[in-house]
Amino acid sequence: MDARDRLREYLEQRRELGESEFVLDGLSVDEALSKLGVRGATPEPDTPRNARASGPVSGDWRQALRSVGVDQPTAAKEPAVSDPALSDPAVSLPAATAKIGRYEMPAPSEPSESASGELKQGLVVGHTMEPGAGALANLDSIDAIAKAIAACTSCGLHAGAKNPVPGEGNPHAGFVVVGEAPGATEDETGRPFVGAAGQLLTKILAAVNLAREEVFICNVLKHRPPGNRNPAPEEIKACSPFLLRQLELLQPRVILALGTFASQTLLQTTIPIGKLRGQVHRYYGVPLIVTYHPAALLRNPSWKRPTWEDVQLARRVFDSAPSGA
Ligand code: URA
Ligand code: URA
Repeated sequence: MDARDRLREYLEQRRELGESEFVLDGLSVDEALSKLGVRGATPEPDTPRNARASGPVSGDWRQALRSVGVDQPTAAKEPAVSDPALSDPAVSLPAATAKIGRYEMPAPSEPSESASGELKQGLVVGHTMEPGAGALANLDSIDAIAKAIAACTSCGLHAGAKNPVPGEGNPHAGFVVVGEAPGATEDETGRPFVGAAGQLLTKILAAVNLAREEVFICNVLKHRPPGNRNPAPEEIKACSPFLLRQLELLQPRVILALGTFASQTLLQTTIPIGKLRGQVHRYYGVPLIVTYHPAALLRNPSWKRPTWEDVQLARRVFDSAPSGA
């Protein structure tokens, strides 16, 4: 079986599984199948580029797609988003100035990889994760932390929130995702990342073969800031011990920080996210990878490509880290 056949098989499999889009690629499964000349796939209105399909095809399906004339989106041009639920035609923001609600994102900076492909040295915060070293050492399980969060009145946010959103997932996963703060849907349900951004996060994780239930997902703030306003410094200060205690108990192999706020808070820096991404930082000894917030990706699909690279990096670090470390 050559790479094209493998690609076709892969795509047909994905379609049977009900998948209609490539996560992080501005091309639907049907469009790709139609480029491969598979019947039953929706033909694309633009000029077919199958004529270029004669070059060598590697085993990598992305390579294979390129060799059949399907260009991958680059950070420079905005690829179309194939899922209408994820695209918002009313909003078209230039990458350099996008301000998305409370997610203010600088444009991606120069790549962080050196010419040799080696990753730049990341930031180091703290030394080792010592269980019991933090302020909440008496909370000895993820459930106990959740109960304490539900009863917390350390900042004003609890008064206006409908539900606490402590976080959820597999406490043994080793892969921990940290976002900013609950939004409206999360506040309603008490669950992290279940709104539009959360649905995209679920797809992003699926793209590196991680089911949402397999990882642990939480936020820096555990109660919703009114109107999704930016978290205030005193709120971060009041809430951070919960996150730190969660991480102490979870003992993750990798932390994926989503967006400017989580990244800068955890890494205790004001360096823009475009410069923090593409590196392996250390948070109390745990490898920490930074990427764009999925809410930002909803408005700026050109950040899907770097995000895809960051999430793959997180997956590689996860796979190479010793478990239980
Ligand atoms: N945005 C976040 O940062 N966290 C959530 O849980 C939902 C949206
Ligand atoms: N608003 C929400 O309630 N949830 C999201 O994930 C994003 C925006």
